[in-house]
Amino acid sequence: MEQRDSPTAPALGVGMVGYAFMGAAHSQGWRTVGHVFDLPLRPVLAAIAGRDAHAVRAAADKHGWASAETDWRALIARDDVQLVDICTPGDSHAEIAIAALEAGKHVLCEKPLANSVAEAEAMAAAAEAARSRGQLAMVGFNYRRVPALTYARRLIAEGRLGTLRHVRVSYLQDWLVDPDFPLTWRLQREHAGSGALGDLGAHIVDLAQYLAGEVLVGVSAQMETFVRERPRLDGASLGLTASGGTQRGPVTVDDAAVFTGRLASGALATFEATRMASGRKNALRLEINGEFGSLAFDLERLNELSFHDHREPAATAGFRRIVVTEAEHPYLEGWWPPGHVLGYEHTFAHQARDLVEAIASGTDPMPSFADGLQVQRVLAAVEESAQKNAVYTPVQAVEAEVR
Ligand SMILES: NC(=O)c1ccc[n+]([C@@H]2O[C@H](COP(=O)([O-])OP(=O)(O)OC[C@H]3O[C@@H](n4cnc5c(N)ncnc54)[C@H](O)[C@@H]3O)[C@@H](O)[C@H]2O)c1
Repeated sequence: MEQRDSPTAPALGVGMVGYAFMGAAHSQGWRTVGHVFDLPLRPVLAAIAGRDAHAVRAAADKHGWASAETDWRALIARDDVQLVDICTPGDSHAEIAIAALEAGKHVLCEKPLANSVAEAEAMAAAAEAARSRGQLAMVGFNYRRVPALTYARRLIAEGRLGTLRHVRVSYLQDWLVDPDFPLTWRLQREHAGSGALGDLGAHIVDLAQYLAGEVLVGVSAQMETFVRERPRLDGASLGLTASGGTQRGPVTVDDAAVFTGRLASGALATFEATRMASGRKNALRLEINGEFGSLAFDLERLNELSFHDHREPAATAGFRRIVVTEAEHPYLEGWWPPGHVLGYEHTFAHQARDLVEAIASGTDPMPSFADGLQVQRVLAAVEESAQKNAVYTPVQAVEAEVR
């Protein structure tokens, strides 16, 4: 097979901001993608940016980046960077993304798009203006790129479930069960925007809408912060793994959010996002029921999709387990023989592939910043509803369709 991703393919210089959890995951995606897929552009890991000179240099060496910068503005200004990949907490997304787009760079930004609707609106407007100059922007909702979920979307779009009745999604983690887990940025509203809602809820809102192919028009929510004070951090933190000091400070975000919603077609949706579900590590689970059948999925078994065809004879019908590793399944053509399973990190290579393909062909990558703004509006409606003790709250419409 001809490898378009040869040294002769034009280079696409990538510059990344932030190099901890998502920085490591995205680095792996950028390092791998050109060796797995036949790409029209050759991603080059040009530079990463962080604030600590020693640490950012060490991260560049560890993750395979050619150079390091201590200011993201210097990264954006580099001629060898055409794409800026933002892997920082939400409080810096808007500033970095808008500056990068205005400097003529393509942008990949981690989720949630921003910490507020106003920031997300400014980002979507900047992306629209950049689009007319040929720069593209995408949000890192990577779970769309789990092959089983991409395939589920395809089955639903083909009508295999018929009209949808129920979309049921939960995202359960347990790293906040310990009341002495420290007050990292994820527990502070000024840095994270919200808690389980923006962290996990953003993923499942995007996923539900992506799978259903339609948006939520209204929600009814309850939220809670179970542990209201936690040990302050003495020094710099890694979001999920730090240890705290003896002074305690206020937690200013939610520990859990539960909400119901109504999709545009009238289907009913239920959501639960929590970091307090002891024993559940990264349990993103969903089940979708339609007039002709159902689909079910669990991220902790991400190569599998359960499918029930309700039109089969009742005596033999039932959920069947599809191992989503066949060459004709999404993204699988570049990987291993059937049954040689993939994992979490592969979604970042898939995300990189789709963005590179979009840049090369000049087509809009999905999910767009407009899609990210729409998710932000759902999150805002959830918070508003919870403040009013679960009053049904309409989601403000965004003109762009979720695709
Ligand atoms: N797609 C996913 O599955 C997924 C998973 C986890 C986190 N995220 C998202 O990724 C983003 C980062 O989360 P994380 O888990 O990697 O956090 P993290 O705490 O592990 O890493 C954050 C990084 O950003 C750096 N940073 C913070 N502020 C900065 C600034 N102003 N300039 C330069 N660098 C700065 C930190 O030094 C660190 O390197 C968040 O938006 C989060 O919601 C997405």
